[in-house]
Amino acid sequence: MNRKKFLQQLGLGLVAGSSLASSCEKEGDITTDQEDCKLTARDDLGPFFVAGTANVVNLNTQNLPGTPMLMMGKVYSGEGNAKPLGGAKIEVWHADDNGAYHPEGAGDVSQYPSSAVTLRGFVLSEADGSFSFKSIRPGLYGSRARHVHFKITAEGHQELVTQSYFLGDPRISQDDLSKNAGDCRIVTYSDDGSGGIMGTMDFHIKTS
Ligand SMILES: [Fe+2]
Repeated sequence: MNRKKFLQQLGLGLVAGSSLASSCEKEGDITTDQEDCKLTARDDLGPFFVAGTANVVNLNTQNLPGTPMLMMGKVYSGEGNAKPLGGAKIEVWHADDNGAYHPEGAGDVSQYPSSAVTLRGFVLSEADGSFSFKSIRPGLYGSRARHVHFKITAEGHQELVTQSYFLGDPRISQDDLSKNAGDCRIVTYSDDGSGGIMGTMDFHIKTS
């Protein structure tokens, strides 16, 4: 399914279609071209990665309260946009609206009751490299900037563990992990027209 179809199925239609700004096309004084996005930089795995989570379109399987969030993007092999990569596994995890993880632990998903596991899961990139998922906007915890965790794995490529951030978050410059994130991991979110937000984060992963 391509992005347009996905958005249409979500009922977002033209509102969303007009807002598909790349994570590298920033507004205001941050203006970079997609070509400036080299290999996506690594970031900390953090203490809350749980292996073996499910393939889900909506990570919010427990219907937790929060601001609906749609994330889209593409996975590319190498720098630039010449080689979209299908079949990449994009594992995602993030905090809830109050900054808590479910579970607040690591290990394997089999260690936890299914009701304790949410705001986690994976999607696979389509043949054109595109992916998308729904969730809720992560809350804040500790001194961290607002963020989403990703682990990207694909045949013939090195595993990438990284995080994305939220443009305009004043914590970005204070957080040791995010302060040098660079434009390509600071996502511009726009209103989806119905109370939610949507943003695009592309990944460029290295061949092994
Ligand atoms: Fe985190």
